[in-house]
Amino acid sequence: MAEQTGGDPLFESHDPIFDRKELLHVGHVPDEDRIVGRDDEIQSVAAEVGAITRGDPPNNVMIYGKTGTGKSLISRHVSTRAQDAARGNDIDCAVLYVDCSEANTETRATRQLALSLKDQTDYQQNIPLRGVGTMEYYQHIWGILEDCFDAVIVILDEIDKLDNSNILMQLSRAREARKTDAYIGVIGISNKVQYRETLDERIDSSFGHRELFFHPYDASQLREIMRNREDAFQPDVLEDGTIELCAALAAKKHGDARKAIEILKEAGELARRTDSETVSETHIQQAQEVAEINRIEELTSGATVHAKLALYALASCIITGDRETYKTREVYERYVGICELVATDPITENGLYRQLKEQAFLGVIESEKTGGGRSQGSYLLHRLVTDPKHIVKAVRRDASLEDLPTYDRLRETGPSTGNRDADLESFS
Ligand SMILES: Nc1ncnc2c1ncn2[C@@H]1O[C@H](COP(=O)(O)OP(=O)(O)O)[C@@H](O)[C@H]1O
Ligand SMILES: [Mg+2]
Repeated sequence: MAEQTGGDPLFESHDPIFDRKELLHVGHVPDEDRIVGRDDEIQSVAAEVGAITRGDPPNNVMIYGKTGTGKSLISRHVSTRAQDAARGNDIDCAVLYVDCSEANTETRATRQLALSLKDQTDYQQNIPLRGVGTMEYYQHIWGILEDCFDAVIVILDEIDKLDNSNILMQLSRAREARKTDAYIGVIGISNKVQYRETLDERIDSSFGHRELFFHPYDASQLREIMRNREDAFQPDVLEDGTIELCAALAAKKHGDARKAIEILKEAGELARRTDSETVSETHIQQAQEVAEINRIEELTSGATVHAKLALYALASCIITGDRETYKTREVYERYVGICELVATDPITENGLYRQLKEQAFLGVIESEKTGGGRSQGSYLLHRLVTDPKHIVKAVRRDASLEDLPTYDRLRETGPSTGNRDADLESFS
């Protein structure tokens, strides 16, 4: 054992918590027998692209669903199996995967397609990395397909990040336009269901496609997904009930398998950092909080100071008050008091209203229109989608706002803001 670390006692010779930590890495692709609760989805994707394995033309398919619902995993899994099955029938099928959040222009996406096709063959022509346009990359793609393949499955992941959808048209018309004889099946993936509407406008009927919707996982599926990766940990390190708790928390919040796995990993890191021999429910709870605060910090990272103060003001109303929802006016008054604390000039109520709407768009706040009668006019009620404690922590991570009262402080001091009107308002 000591040999593994060169015998230097500075480095532990063995990890007391993790055994096969790679099982918890984001990019890890589990074996088939570790894929849980997606049998129907696997069948559905296979039904769309499967014709390829019989030498027939496949359907294009769009997969929609929130993050962490297994879209990327299932697409890759089915494509690889289709490739193997095709091979069994003497059909040469390539599988190409493009992450459009990185390759977010047509040029980048086609370059990546051309390069990964080249990688899979002994195509001799040089494919330039820069200085050439989309058309040249398409030429290479058609050329390689023509020479080496009967069929290809192209996975365009996070396709909504692509700045135009011309590539869908090119791929679906390629046979018709006699660019290649290979059958092309496209699997498009989007986290945003709204992409459907823009897609309809942007592409013509040549990209005829089926649509599939992946739903968030429930607690028992998440439990199973994590159980299947239990061997990431040393034996007996995970205390009873930790996976159940992690699954229950994740199911309640989002049903996102990626986040559930990340929290499990973070809990392990916490245990190791605190020299604990086991991972306990407390570690899971702490890891969950850290993950949530990180998420909010990420969501609000591009936001203005005033947007952050607006969020903080709403959190402060909720922490010190006895309601879950507050009117724009109430949040505004609290906000003005808070601006004084950090010596910042407040923006107008209308400006704040716009900031709140922006946050609603980011998914941190939910705003609901409530009307008195027509004569009274309607107003917005704002609520937080997360624990106000996490908002306070995330906002205070901004170096210019670290002097704002902590969560505990807010709880102690109650609804007083130093602003008499706001105080009165929050009791009314
Ligand atoms: N059904 C499943 N069984 C096992 N692991 C899964 C399952 N679904 C998702 N995962 C794991 O969760 C993470 C996120 O899945 P992913 O396919 O990337 O989700 P999406 O593309 O929908 O955001 C990956 O690490 C993946 O291995
Ligand atoms: Mg994905």
